[in-house]
Amino acid sequence: MPPALNPRAVLRSGGSAGLLRPVSAAVRTTPSLTRQPAQSPCVPSFTGGRRYLSGPYGYTQAKSLVFSKFGEPSDVLHLHTHSISPTLPDGAVLLRALAVPVNPSDVNTIQGTYGVKPSFSPLLGTPEPSAIPGNEGCFEVVAVGPHVKTLRRGDWAIPATTGFGTFRTHAVAPDADRTVLPIHDTAGLTPAQVATVSVNPCSAYRMLRDYVDLIGQSVAAYSRDPSTPGGAWFLQNGANSGVGRAAIQLGALWGLRSINVVRERATPEATDALKAELTALGATVVLTEAEFLDRAFTTRLRDEFTRGGRDPLLLGLNCVGGKSASAVVKALSPKGVMVTYGGMSRQSFPFPTGPLIFKRLRFEGFWLSEWSKENPAEKKKTIEEIVELMRQGKFQAAPVQEVKWDWETDEKTLQEAVQGTLEGFRSGKGLFVFGNT
Ligand SMILES: NC(=O)c1ccc[n+]([C@@H]2O[C@H](COP(=O)([O-])OP(=O)(O)OC[C@H]3O[C@@H](n4cnc5c(N)ncnc54)[C@H](OP(=O)(O)O)[C@@H]3O)[C@@H](O)[C@H]2O)c1
Repeated sequence: MPPALNPRAVLRSGGSAGLLRPVSAAVRTTPSLTRQPAQSPCVPSFTGGRRYLSGPYGYTQAKSLVFSKFGEPSDVLHLHTHSISPTLPDGAVLLRALAVPVNPSDVNTIQGTYGVKPSFSPLLGTPEPSAIPGNEGCFEVVAVGPHVKTLRRGDWAIPATTGFGTFRTHAVAPDADRTVLPIHDTAGLTPAQVATVSVNPCSAYRMLRDYVDLIGQSVAAYSRDPSTPGGAWFLQNGANSGVGRAAIQLGALWGLRSINVVRERATPEATDALKAELTALGATVVLTEAEFLDRAFTTRLRDEFTRGGRDPLLLGLNCVGGKSASAVVKALSPKGVMVTYGGMSRQSFPFPTGPLIFKRLRFEGFWLSEWSKENPAEKKKTIEEIVELMRQGKFQAAPVQEVKWDWETDEKTLQEAVQGTLEGFRSGKGLFVFGNT
């Protein structure tokens, strides 16, 4: 059987950038509430069927995780309380967080090792100018400025670009028609799905589509030889990551075949369980790092997977680095492309001269933040397409470890949730789930 090829195999191009500015003049601090939240004059209000706390004269009481200098999250993150004016700027919306994931890049941002440094601002009224980490999340629109056209109260909303600062209970998004993407119809969706769609699945989608025309390759291979056993191959390490799981699912939906590399678990049973989990998501082959680095892999790749190289391997996705990245390079067919988008092992890898020249390989770096700024319309379309797949039950969000964030939740609990993000062998990504805020 030929692969289930997606007829919408059309590569897209993008438009001009749009930059989000999260902190608004509508935000002001109430230090007394920081010290004595239990005695705050907050009263419960209801909107869109959900409870939120409003202070005197309609001020919304909010809490944010902030940092004023770079360092480890447990050292530099602080929980800051402030209030938000009921008078919104004309184009702004007031958002209440429903679910917010903690991604590796959020920790790198706090550590000061990420590709972009946040600017520390005095606007939140913290003792030192501060920034709020967090790039994605699912928010509910609780109030709408008079000139906003695309959002209504009760909609869910996703920040349109990275750098929004999502580790907070509430946010004022200025210029909301441009800076947040609405989800009007939330039927069939959960906040956890929506909160995690804009970084990892979006990255996987773009990396599978924008470097090698794998779908076109699949169609061409099938037209040449209808006995081709499946679509074009891609290979990835870190395959159980959020990005990796998204790539497996999107690849399978587009009829592609994937070789997926994961680290061994503590026991063979746990390794087999992880392999079975990824296979159920649509992975064609799942290998451990040891199996991938073994000499026998070259033979398996040639004889078992690619029919003696007749089905070339033209795309490798690398988020690990070190030996694993070198093995991806070695596995690629001539004119293949390796896209590096992360460095979880913190190890670099050599650009091997021989393969670079004789296989005429390409090495690319992918960074969603810049891509999103350059292609805002494409970003919106990509998210909408994946959300629709979620709605139809065709795309699963990555597993999460929920951390409840209520009004009473203490600073240490939140700090620890962020600090644990870069630890390996986790059962799921940390996800703040907001309750009574
Ligand atoms: N460039 C971009 O635009 C972009 C966009 C999205 C994500 N990313 C990057 O993609 C990577 C994955 O992000 P994610 O949110 O999908 O990850 P995630 O869901 O939080 O999962 C982390 C992944 O990293 C692996 N890992 C952790 N420590 C490791 C180590 N020392 N050596 C090798 N692997 C290790 C984990 O494997 P185990 O389960 O075996 O520990 C797991 O597969 C990160 O580097 C992130 O910064 C980049």
